[in-house]
Amino acid sequence: MGALVLVHPDPHWGEQFKQESARRGIQTLVFMQMSDTIEVLQNSATPISAFYFSVKTPGSSLLATLALCSIHRPVTPVFLLGQPPQDHFKELNIRGTFPDPVNASMEFEALLAPLNRAVLESISSSAARPMGTRSDPGYVAIPTCDFHDFLTYPNDVFIQQRDGTMKLFASAQSPVELGYLLQASRYSPWLYISEAPLKSRRAALKIARTKLLDLHGISADWIRCELLYEATRILRQLRKELPSDEIVDRSTEFLGDFFKHIVNLSRVQNSDELKTFIEEAARTDRALGVLTSAMLICAHFRFEKSAVVEILGMAALLQDISLIHSPFGNIADLHPDQIPPEARAFHALHPIHSADLLSASTGLSATTLQVIRQHHETKDRTGYPNRVGGTLLHPMAEVLGILSRYAEIKDSVFSTQAAIQRMKSEVFPKFSLEIVQAFESVLLRTSETL
Ligand SMILES: [Fe+2]
Repeated sequence: MGALVLVHPDPHWGEQFKQESARRGIQTLVFMQMSDTIEVLQNSATPISAFYFSVKTPGSSLLATLALCSIHRPVTPVFLLGQPPQDHFKELNIRGTFPDPVNASMEFEALLAPLNRAVLESISSSAARPMGTRSDPGYVAIPTCDFHDFLTYPNDVFIQQRDGTMKLFASAQSPVELGYLLQASRYSPWLYISEAPLKSRRAALKIARTKLLDLHGISADWIRCELLYEATRILRQLRKELPSDEIVDRSTEFLGDFFKHIVNLSRVQNSDELKTFIEEAARTDRALGVLTSAMLICAHFRFEKSAVVEILGMAALLQDISLIHSPFGNIADLHPDQIPPEARAFHALHPIHSADLLSASTGLSATTLQVIRQHHETKDRTGYPNRVGGTLLHPMAEVLGILSRYAEIKDSVFSTQAAIQRMKSEVFPKFSLEIVQAFESVLLRTSETL
């Protein structure tokens, strides 16, 4: 049989999976990240009998992996761990779901049960296959061995003849005869299925993404991984290249999903999922921690989603863009005390530099640029660079201002309690009562994780 591929963040369970399968003479490939499977997925010389993906795999996108599966191994069965079953999973070729084995002491045998064991045992694991060509318009080439684990063919399957034409090899739902299939694999390492059903699967994946982020029965663990993965990719892009409308569009879509999810989580009192989300966001990237807190404050104020996304969310992502791409290199993550002397004048004006840079390279709205210009100003007019305050200060700029002060203070004290004490004495008097109350209410709800 081919290998079983497992992606699971817990190395202990991965080891257990390996041992259990070795005892049964089954080869396994265990990974902790989805991205590590790409090579195996694309390599047709590696026979794979099934994929087991844990939906709780930080730093990964399961949706991106499923899309790759639908391109490279479209008939290999996929099972999800840690996800309740869903009706539309069938369209995505997800053969089944299991509770996360780590929590449910899942019996290994149960994981194998849906596979065709009789077939698995009759196939030699040394049945490696040669590489071949795989570009045939209208058809997708599938390693012939990938059909070994089926009782019946999942689709109409074609074989390419010597003159290049396609001939029907087996109809959908007809039984898989192993001898015949082995003979075919000697003739051709590839069989083909029509691209049409795969197109509909890819469309279903797109729809699944929307459903997923609307929380329609898809686990919060999975949503968290998808959102943080996309956030990391956006932040990486922003650090690599100057902003453009393309990245603004991508960020708008992400921020909408991100805000929707935070609002959903914050509706539940003392939500553990909210705390896990905040912790993991902050651990993933400091900028993401600030963005999450900013959105929680906006959820508290019940600001309009479109305003949160277009103004606050975008400003939170882009406020320090001039420090990232500064003439002195990336100085965005330095504490103000660590800024080199030659860069201090530039740093003091960075809100203006960021807004200027963005107005030249993107079509961001005047209000978003205003919030970026004001993100270090305070209500009492003691902020920088222009000492703007009072009614001229945008409330979303205040949200960003109070959070950046908190991030700085947290870096210079030993405990959350000490940070809160300093916030009370040094920072709260500079901001409006409403913002301070919202900050405190978010802080209380998320205890020391903020
Ligand atoms: Fe800043």
